[in-house]
Order: sequence, then structure tokens, then C-alpha cells
Amino acid sequence: MAAQTSYQPPKRYQSRHLPFGDRRDAPFYGKHILSVKQFSREDLTYIFEVAHEMREMVMRVGSFDLLKGKILANLFYEPSTRTASSFIAAMQRLGGSVIAINEVRYSSVAKGESLPDTIRTLEAYADVIVLRHPQKGSAALAAKYARKPIINAGDGTGEHPTQALLDLFTIQEELGQVDGLTVTLLGDLKYGRTVHSLARLLSMYRVKLHYVSPPELRMPREIVEEIAQAGIPQEEHVHLDDVLADTDVLYVTRVQKERFDDPEAYERVKDFYIITPEVMARAKDRMILMHPFPRVYEITLDVDEDPRAAYFRQMEYGLYVRMALLAMVLGKA
Ligand code: NCD
Repeated sequence: MAAQTSYQPPKRYQSRHLPFGDRRDAPFYGKHILSVKQFSREDLTYIFEVAHEMREMVMRVGSFDLLKGKILANLFYEPSTRTASSFIAAMQRLGGSVIAINEVRYSSVAKGESLPDTIRTLEAYADVIVLRHPQKGSAALAAKYARKPIINAGDGTGEHPTQALLDLFTIQEELGQVDGLTVTLLGDLKYGRTVHSLARLLSMYRVKLHYVSPPELRMPREIVEEIAQAGIPQEEHVHLDDVLADTDVLYVTRVQKERFDDPEAYERVKDFYIITPEVMARAKDRMILMHPFPRVYEITLDVDEDPRAAYFRQMEYGLYVRMALLAMVLGKA
């Protein structure tokens, strides 16, 4: 219960401040990005339009001052190469700056500071917080305490909404459409948060979904049920060859070693699927191979020269999508 007192902190430190020049009517202004469930198809069209503009601007001028004076706090409790550095690059290409906390063991987290306290500290200095954390639901918890936008950059086995947005943008850009496609998600569908978000996002389109995994790494039932509610056909398989010839997008994932309690269970499934040029020879001529990366064993290096291997282009699309998201939540798009 709050203490009984007549003391009031200075007014200017109580209210949420709206910096001069922000477009308060912008559709995502001040919003958190926690789950793909928050987006409508119209939202996605809008995000991709802004991402297109970002790409044009990067091609033309490299960087520009849309977010000049804005500060991003990039708070990562789990390892990251692409997500962390693409958010930093996105902010810097928009003229903003970054407080990067990649190694929480060098921050007060190592002294036992709670997530809400760390969030309330960073929002005193920054305008937006990108958070990656090993616990499912952590981004939603952070958002409960935050007055500034929280962007979920992966919450344990939960979601990875910005990855799913860039994955969908990749499909749209590479194949020119999403409706009508057959998308095969392969690998660790149980612990892989990117496929949890992507399957949900794809269920807003007229797609057919195939889930290919070892029996112990199947897509969680609650996600399958959610997607069935949207009327999307879904099929589960153990063998890729059952669906490969039919597939327009093959989305490969890493077996998430760090989420296994039993190391032997990981060893049993880690080499279950390996994409090689021989496998690609059985795939459609017009299809794309995607992977959120890091890749470990799942795709051999000699597949990289195949023009259908889209994973390095996928990373670049991620920069434009993250530029769009930062501009949107900060009221500049
Ligand atoms: C993924 C993640 O962190 O969930 N990586 C990424 O953000 N591109 C996938 C993974 O770790 O396997």
C-alpha cells in the first residue's frame, strides 16, 4: 500500500514527456512491440511501406537525421549478433545514438538488480528500449513497468516479433507475394521462438503451413490451435521429402541447444536435418531458403551459392524493417 503523505515530486518528473516535434498521431507512436499478435494486415502493409522507404534512403544517402537526438537502449541478456547489431545500425543510420548493454554481467544485473528496476533506469536515459531476455513473458513484464516503448528482441522460447516481421518482408520482397504460398518450417519448432512468431504472422495470409521436425521438437499445441482458429491448413511431418517438392519457402532453424535440460536429448536431434545441394536439387526452381541464423549444422556452406539461398539478403531486409519500427514507435513515421 502507498504511504500516506502529502509530498508530491516535481510535476515535470511525473508525467510522460512528449518531446517537441513528435508526431503523436503516428499509428505506432509510443507503442510497445511485444508479440506479432498485436498487428493487423493493414499494419503489416504500412510497416513494409516504411521499410521500403528506409531502403531507398539507405541506398541513396546511407544515413539521415530522422531520429537525431533520440537514444536507444539495447539491453541483451542473451547472446546476439544480428538482432543487436542491426538495431544499433538502424538507430545510427537514422542519426540517433545507442546505449548498448550486451553483457549484462558487467551491469548491475550481476549485482542482482531486477528487470523492472533495470528498465526504469534505462528509460530515464533513453527513448526506446530493445530487450532480449531468456524468460518467456519478460518483454511483457518490462512493458508493465515502462513508460517508454519496449521492443521484444526475443523472450526465451516465447516470441521474436521483429524477426518475424523481417522474415515476412523477405518473403514478400523475394517472391512478390505471401498469399497462395506453401511455407515449410523445419527443425526445432518447440523451442525456436522465430517460428512461433512467424507461423502466427503467416496465419494472417492465405498460406499452407508444413511443420517438419523430430517428434520431440514439434510446434507447441497452443500455437497449432491458434492457427487452426484462423482457418489455415497445417500439416506435421518428420521427413522433409514428404513436402519439399511442394514448398515455396523453406525456413530452417537451429536446434536450440541452450533450451535443453538434457544434453543427450540435444545430441539425439541436432543432426536430424541437413540441407545440402543434393536436397536443394529436389526443391522447386522458384523457391527461397531462409534461416534466422546463427546456423550450426543445418545448412552446409556449399548451399550458399545457390541463388535460392536467401538468408544473407534476409539479414539486410532486417535492417530496413528495424529502421521502420524505431521511426514508428518514436513518432517519426
Ligand atoms: C534467433 C533467436 O535469437 O531467436 N536468432 C536471431 O535473432 N536471428 C535464432 C536462433 O538463435 O536460433
